Amino acid sequence: MLTLDFHPTGRHFLQIPGPSPVPDRILRAMSYPTIDHRGPEFAALGLQVLAKVKQIFQTQGPVVIYPASGTGAWEAALSNVCSPGDHVLMYETGHFAWLWQKLATRLQLKAEVVAMPGTCPTTGLPISWRHGVQADLIEARLKADTGHTIKAVCVVHNETSTGVTSNIAAVRKAINAAKHPALLLVDTISGLASAEYKHDEWGVDVTISGSQKGLMLPPGISFNAMSAKALEASRHASLPKAFWAWDEIVEMNKTGYWPSTPNTNLLYGLSEACDMLLDPRHGGLPMVFARHQRWAEGVRAAVRAWGLEIMCADSAVYSPVLCGVVTPQGVDADAVRKLIYERFDCSLGTGLGKIKGRMFRIGHLGDCNDLTLMAALSGCEMGLKLSGIKLQGSGVQAAMDYFSAHAAPTALAKAA
Ligand SMILES: Cc1ncc(COP(=O)(O)O)c(C=O)c1O
Repeated sequence: MLTLDFHPTGRHFLQIPGPSPVPDRILRAMSYPTIDHRGPEFAALGLQVLAKVKQIFQTQGPVVIYPASGTGAWEAALSNVCSPGDHVLMYETGHFAWLWQKLATRLQLKAEVVAMPGTCPTTGLPISWRHGVQADLIEARLKADTGHTIKAVCVVHNETSTGVTSNIAAVRKAINAAKHPALLLVDTISGLASAEYKHDEWGVDVTISGSQKGLMLPPGISFNAMSAKALEASRHASLPKAFWAWDEIVEMNKTGYWPSTPNTNLLYGLSEACDMLLDPRHGGLPMVFARHQRWAEGVRAAVRAWGLEIMCADSAVYSPVLCGVVTPQGVDADAVRKLIYERFDCSLGTGLGKIKGRMFRIGHLGDCNDLTLMAALSGCEMGLKLSGIKLQGSGVQAAMDYFSAHAAPTALAKAA
């Protein structure tokens, strides 16, 4: 018989960059009885959740919620604004950007990929996977597209496979500088509610996100936030779509309902998550972003002290959500992860796609704190040593020093 209690004592350290640990408060909210999704109470829930979620995306426009994982919301975004054979420009920052391109190709779009060329001489890893989106490459490509065949520019805000963020405002500036009408589609599946994100201010046309990362929910819901320009484009776009079609959902959402059955209990959880993230007593979203930046810096202090390389090669775009740790040449990063999992009950993210076996990922997002991170870093340090890797120094000590010297922003808020 399969037992669902996989970890008999203490608690498992789920330090992957999503799904992230779900706080008790959210689990309790999700345990309320399921209600009639056509009944009067549901409309109140729906209207409330839709209003709160707009604040998380920092948008005045509609946000559509799907009972699907992030991949569904990728497909929804493209199928609502594109027509068969449309040309889309995608930027390869890592494995998820690459997967999105694959999905676009399956939808029979003409997906053109731009990326920084070459491999890193010290690690042999793709240079483009160690940097954020280079907006000048996008600008140059759009300027060359004098016939305006490119319908959309698609970028990943927080590349979960590498731990690199991208400057989305700079991408919008590049599109405007090229005087190009392409829509801007942004995947912030792992960035939302951890890394600063401003749908309206940054001029994003469609934002794609998911529940299982910064929102601290289980997997199972995903989102499209859209601009007026994207909604207008959706009226003329002819890729086949039915379940994903925005028009009926946006219309019914005005009264708090959905055309098909929504996942009610996850909406309870989403409502609770929004209350936690937006709570003014804890500083709201600015404090959420500040605490992620601080955790990230503490973890990077540990990696530097070990003498290991951080996957992100540009300190201006370090991810506040996760840290990619490159293992020395010849060391199988997945074997290190396996050892840490088996010996210390701690799950770390695997290297994906082109960087499989070359790195592991430490997630520091959502429901975590200094001590959960210290535990994870201890597991990493013991596991790295047991794997025979010669460390320059103690990352655990470096992280303790960092966290001790830099008070948590929540504590500062309480003291003020
Ligand atoms: C940046 C990014 N995009 C897309 C996806 C795919 O989302 P899902 O696995 O929820 O379908 C993920 C999943 O981790 C992701 O991190």
